[in-house]
Amino acid sequence: MKKIAVAGTGYVGLVAGVTFAEMGHQVLCVDIDQDKVELMKSGISPIFESGLEELMKKNFAAGRIDFTTDFQSAYKDADAIFIGVGTPEQPDGSANLSYIATVARQIAESVEKDCLVVVKSTVPIGTNDKVEQFIQDFLVNDVRIEVASNPEFLAQGSAVHDTLHAERIVIGTESKWAEEMLMKIYEPFNIPIVSVNRRSAEMIKYASNDFLALKISYMNDIANLCELVGADVQEVARGMSYDARIGSKFLNAGIGFGGSCFPKDTKALEHIAHENGYDLKTVKAAVDVNTEQKVKLFKKAAKRLITFSGLKVAVLGLTFKPGTDDLREAASLDNVKLLLEKGADIFAFDPVGIENFKRFYPEGKNLNGSITYVTSPQAALEDANVAFLYTEWPEVKSVLPNEYTELMQTPLVYDGRNVYSVEEMQQANVEYHSIGRSS
Ligand code: UGA
Repeated sequence: MKKIAVAGTGYVGLVAGVTFAEMGHQVLCVDIDQDKVELMKSGISPIFESGLEELMKKNFAAGRIDFTTDFQSAYKDADAIFIGVGTPEQPDGSANLSYIATVARQIAESVEKDCLVVVKSTVPIGTNDKVEQFIQDFLVNDVRIEVASNPEFLAQGSAVHDTLHAERIVIGTESKWAEEMLMKIYEPFNIPIVSVNRRSAEMIKYASNDFLALKISYMNDIANLCELVGADVQEVARGMSYDARIGSKFLNAGIGFGGSCFPKDTKALEHIAHENGYDLKTVKAAVDVNTEQKVKLFKKAAKRLITFSGLKVAVLGLTFKPGTDDLREAASLDNVKLLLEKGADIFAFDPVGIENFKRFYPEGKNLNGSITYVTSPQAALEDANVAFLYTEWPEVKSVLPNEYTELMQTPLVYDGRNVYSVEEMQQANVEYHSIGRSS
C-alpha cells in the first residue's frame, strides 16, 4: 500500500484517485475548488461518469480516499504525487502548461520526504524533463524527487471501466527507483505494463490519440467518397474490419470527432512538429477532414431547403458522444450556431447535456432564431420540418422510423451517426440523409 496524492479532480485525476483507492492505496485528492471538495466529501461526483460515484463513496466510507484543498498536507509525506490537471489548448494549438507549473511549484515547496511525481496529464514531449528541473529549482527540503510520465488512456463515459480493465499501462521513467515505484503502485491492477523512457511515454499518448483521430477522419473521407460512387461506408467498414491489421474499432463514419482530447491533441502534435521544423502531414489532414465533416450535414440540408427561417428544427443529441454531459468540441455547437444564424426554431433533446448547452444557448430567442429544450426525442420531433441527429444516445436510437413519419410535419432527417438503415427509413417513407451512404 502506498500513500498517494492526486492533484486535480477532473476526469483524469478523480478516476485515478478513486481506482488507486479501490486497489488498496491510501489516497488524498487535492483540488483548488473548495465547493468541489465539499461535494466530493458528501459523496457526490462532480463529473457524470458511470460507476464513479459508487466507487468514490465506497472508498471514502472505507477511509481509503479523502479530498482537500490543503495541498501542503497532501504532498508533504506522499510516496507518489500524480498530476492530473488540465492542459487546455491555446489559440496557437499549443498546450497551456500553467496549471502543471502551479502544481509543480506547490510540490517543490511542500515535500518533506523522497517522492515520485507522476504526470498523468497529456503534455508536450519534453515537459516531464522541464517539470523535474522546475521542481529541483524550487525544492525547499533536501529530498529525492523524480518525475515520471504515466499517460492516461481512458475514454469519457467508460472511464472507470477503462482504468480497471485497461489494455496497457504506459510508464515513462529515467531510473530504476521510479520504475519500481510505479510497478508497485500498479501491481494490484494486474494489467500489462509498458515501461519506456519519459519522452517515449509522452509521445505514446499523442501518437495513440492522433492515430485514432486519423482513423476516424480516414473513414469520414472514405464515407464522403462512398456517397459519390454509390458505396455504403458501413458495409465498407464491416468488410475492412475482418482484417486484424485494421481492426473493427473506430471505423464509424459520422459528423467528426469531438471531445476534450482528439481535437486538442491533434492540434498540439501538429504544433510540436511545426516547432521542430517538421510538417506532420497526416495529422494535419485528419484535422482538416474533421473541420469540414462537422458541418457536412448542415451544408447538405442548406442545399436542399430554401431557408431555415420559420422552420421547426428537431435536434437530437447535443453531447460530443453518448455517456457524457461534456460538450467540448461537440459538432452540435457548430451546427446549432449555423441553424440559429439562418433563423431556425430549434427544439433540442439530450438526456444529460441540456444544462451545459444552455450556457451557450439559453432557452428562447437566439441569434436569428430560437431554441427550446425538451425532455424526449418525440417532443422535439412533434410537427418538425427537419430533424438532425448529432449523438447516438440510446434514447435517440430507440426512436422508431415510423415515429418520424407520424410526428413530423415533413419527415426529413439528417443523421450524423448512421443510427438507421437506409432501407428501414425508406420503408417508413422518411427522406433520410446519412453519412457515407446514398439515400
Ligand atoms: C479519447 C480516447 O478514445 C481515449 O483513449 C483517450 O484516453 C482520451 O481521448 C483522452 O485523451 O483523454 P474520448 O475523447 O473520451 O477518448 O472519446 P472517444 O470515445 O474516443 O470519442 C471521441 C470522438 O470521436 C467522439 O466525438 C466520437 O463520437 C468520435 N468517434 C469515435 C467517431 O466519430 N467514430 C468512431 O468510430 C469513434
